[in-house]
Parts: sequence; structure tokens; C-alpha cells
Amino acid sequence: MRNIKDECNLKQKKVLLRLDLNVPLDNGRITDTTRIDKILPTINFLLQNNAKIIILSHVGRPKGKVVKELSLNPICEDLKKKLNKDIKLVTKNLKEIDSKDLFNSQDEKIIMLENLRFYDEEEENNNKFAKHLASLADIYVNDAFSCSHRAHTSIFEITKFLPSYAGLQLNLEIDALTKITSEIKKPVTCIIGGSKISTKINIIKNLIPKFDSIVIVGGMANNIIKYKGHNIGKSIHEDNCDQIIEEIFYLSKNKECKIIYPEDVAVSKNLNGLSDIKELNNVSKDELILDIGPKSIKNIKNIIDKSKTILWNGPAGYFENPNFAKGSFEIAKKIMEKNKTNTIYSVAGGGDTVALLNNLGAINSFNFVSTAGGAFLEYLEGKELPGIKALN
Ligand code: 3PG
Repeated sequence: MRNIKDECNLKQKKVLLRLDLNVPLDNGRITDTTRIDKILPTINFLLQNNAKIIILSHVGRPKGKVVKELSLNPICEDLKKKLNKDIKLVTKNLKEIDSKDLFNSQDEKIIMLENLRFYDEEEENNNKFAKHLASLADIYVNDAFSCSHRAHTSIFEITKFLPSYAGLQLNLEIDALTKITSEIKKPVTCIIGGSKISTKINIIKNLIPKFDSIVIVGGMANNIIKYKGHNIGKSIHEDNCDQIIEEIFYLSKNKECKIIYPEDVAVSKNLNGLSDIKELNNVSKDELILDIGPKSIKNIKNIIDKSKTILWNGPAGYFENPNFAKGSFEIAKKIMEKNKTNTIYSVAGGGDTVALLNNLGAINSFNFVSTAGGAFLEYLEGKELPGIKALN
């Protein structure tokens, strides 16, 4: 895999730079800027080498439609301040722009194209769209490790049309994860939470042979609670998951991997409400499960205590409302405690998990924090990620 540092002549070259600026937004306000902060060295490197940068990214899942709330505008504004540079956000239909439309003045160094997922073609890994985007630049750089599990146009197909390189952050993430996976100490526990159920539920099956315990919390646990015959009220869940859950439990027995899911939960009637602790068989129709309960927290802390390595992806609850941050907070606290005594090797990953750790001021108490969520888990599965394959 060629790194951007291998390209000795970047002067005046137009670089299509794929970043993952998929940061958490709350009414247009960025609630965590880690993903933006991490890619600043790559932008600075390109600027120092007199390259012209065209930033590509997505935010959210607009599914091929223009969704005003998912504009890259607030991200562009944040980046402008951080770099102290002007950046033009191109909102014109991307399929109609021409390279002549970009960089109208000598001083213009950075351009950002509006959310790629406003176009169906992005997720279709569309050859024509890739060719068109490629026509805007001279080289392509992928510095979005956290998107590299997606075989999308700006990650995969585009590499067919331009000399392609890895960015500085992508390299750092791969080096760190390679080291971690080759030097892992047992017992190993993986905590999986968050709300991206469809992305993660299939991955669990493949992680079973590699871990001693898998702790399932967050939105994904709702599916298991439902499968076990309990009412989950209005909680988020994914339909048609029973077969995969059956396989997860069957495989876990065969491979001696413990699957842990919540024994009790914290619920409310809405996202902004107060927390009410409930046994699994007591959740009513109009309630949402928004966190794990005290018994579950105690059990998970015991498991962390017995682990030598911990990998954590996805919060245990809806931590954006502090009434439901207790599960995630207690997990983080226990890991931090063990880290202080050097009795655990801890790795956390994923946009929401990073935001949570930042919220708690816990980010430096982990051995490694990856910006990647789904990509991090697929990497742990041992899968070759499409974006990395394309660069190779
Ligand atoms: C992420 O947040 O993990 C990446 O930006 C990928 O987002 P996605 O799961 O919507 O493809």
C-alpha cells in the first residue's frame, strides 16, 4: 500500500482526499470533533507540499436524497477555523461539476464537495460516478479508515481511475490494529453496543472464535432481549434477526465464548425522559430501553476485571441524555481503573464511543482509540476491507 508520503511531487497536483467527517451532529452543532482533529496532519502535509485538496466525505445516511440537516456545512466551518484557511463548500450537483469549475484562483487551496451520500451512486460503487469524480483530480488519497469496510464509489471504485494512496491517519490506524491483534493477551473480552445494529449483528458470529466473552449492550442487545421472549416496547431493533441470534448462541457454546447481554435495563417513555430501572419482563409497550441496569453493570464490571484485553465498540446506552449514560460511564470507569494498574490492554473504537470517552475525559486512559466503528470490528474479524484491498 503506497502512502501519500511516497508521492514525492505533489506540487500543484489536485488531490481527491476521502475523509470520514461523519461526526455526531445535534441540530447542526458538532458534538464531537475527534474525526476532524485526527485528519488535520494529512491536510497540513498536503498543503505544505503545495497540493490542491478536494475533500470528499459523507455524513449520516441520507440514502441518495439531499437532506438539509446532513449538509457538510458545519463541518466545513469547523475545518476552516482549525486550519485558518478558506474552504469553499461545493453544493452544485456533483454529477454536473467540471474540473474547470474548481480552484478559480491561485490562492484557493481547499475545496469540499457536499455530502457524497446525497447521490445513490455513492453507495452503489458506481463506475461512471467514480470516473467522473476522478476527472476532477490527479491523485486519490484515502484517509478514511473508518469507511474502508464500505465498497462505495469514493472508497473502492475510484481507485481504478487515479493513482491511489493511503493517508497518514489510515496508516496509523492499520499499524496500531495490526500490532494489537498480533499481540493480544487472553482472556479477551469484546463489548459491542451502539445503535448500528444491521452493521454489527452479522459480525458477532465471526468474532466468537476469537474472544472469551462478548458483551452485547446498546441497541443491539434489544434484539437479543426480544429473541429471549421479552417485550422491548418502542426500543430500536432490527427485524428478521432471530436466525442470526440462534447461530450466535449455538456457536458460542461450541467455541466456549460467553455471550453476555443485559439482565436489567433503564427505560423511559421518550429520549429526553428520566430513567426507570426495570427487570427484562417488565418493560411496557410505550417504553424505550435506553441503558443497561445496575445488575448488568455489576456483571460486566466482573467480566472486565477478569480480562487481560478489552475491545470496546459502541456505547451501552443513549448517553446523549445523562440519565442514560450510567452504563457506559461505569464500563469506562472500570477499564480506566484497570489501565492505571496496567492490568488490562484496552482498545476502543467508533464515532459514538470516541464521543463518549471525550465526554468523560477518558480518551487518554485507553491504550488505543480508533476512529473506526464498523471497520474496526470487520478488521478484528480478519476480513480484508474493500478500501484497503483497493489501495493494495
Ligand atoms: C462510521 O461512522 O462508522 C463510518 O462513517 C461509516 O458510516 P456507515 O456505517 O453509515 O457506513
